Amino acid sequence: MSSHVATKQVTVPWIRSQKGKEKLTMLTAYDYPTALFLDEAGVDMLLVGDSVATVMYGEPNTLAVTMDDMLRHTRAVARAAKRALVIGDMPFMSYQVSREQAVTNAGRFLKEAGAQAVKLEGGTEVAETIKAITTAGIPVCAHIGLTPQSINAMGTYRMHGKTNEERQYLLDSAYAAAAAGAFAVVLECVEANLATEITKAIKIPTVGIGAGTNCDAQVLVINDLVGLTAGRVPKFVAPLANLKEPLQEAVKSFIARTRQAAPPVEVQEAVAPPTPTLPTDGGKAHAVSH
Ligand code: KIV
Repeated sequence: MSSHVATKQVTVPWIRSQKGKEKLTMLTAYDYPTALFLDEAGVDMLLVGDSVATVMYGEPNTLAVTMDDMLRHTRAVARAAKRALVIGDMPFMSYQVSREQAVTNAGRFLKEAGAQAVKLEGGTEVAETIKAITTAGIPVCAHIGLTPQSINAMGTYRMHGKTNEERQYLLDSAYAAAAAGAFAVVLECVEANLATEITKAIKIPTVGIGAGTNCDAQVLVINDLVGLTAGRVPKFVAPLANLKEPLQEAVKSFIARTRQAAPPVEVQEAVAPPTPTLPTDGGKAHAVSH
């Protein structure tokens, strides 16, 4: 085990303290067994991403997922995590309407689902929301660059930080998130040189996904990493396993074993089922109490 690995429950102050030290890891998890196995394997942070919508429910994007969906999945993950920090992803429209609603919904992830922190998408425009949530004692991970909840405004899933205007916006946003009290910031599909510049510039850990190798941490969708994604996997993922194959092999073996175990039982000529004899004591003799 690497020397930097905290053996106790990972905390937000510990994540902050790792800035510029050994790299941190974050993976998504949406269910109890997966979270249990990832936690045992030593991942530092478990993100219950709103990507659950596309990965687990087959939705075309992340917009349809609700607070109730997210709380349910977060609770399952939190029950499994012994060491990893559990972060609940705030779904679309759970923090955009008002600051009060944002704080209330963020609080539900801690109170009802057992998360230790929340994540929300957006740059400088959500800095005041981040401040309101962190002021309530709820740690926030910010998320800039490709922000999938804004797909209708962005038009396409693409790399960010290619123009000077976009670079300035992302740098300002990273500073604003840190100043508002965020403990980390996800940089999704941010041009690698800019991700490096942001990582050097701000005092909180950056968590990269499709943003080069220089961020303080890396995050991936677990299904993409292990070959259990139904559909396209982003190029930057570089999967480390293809679990679809052993899964399908096991299913094929199960089908074969079932068919080989014994021939189908022949159905006899239909016989009328025996008429049940009704108890004469009203059924008291067979009553079972629980
Ligand atoms: O929802 C999610 O899984 C995410 C990660 C990809 C960062 O936001």
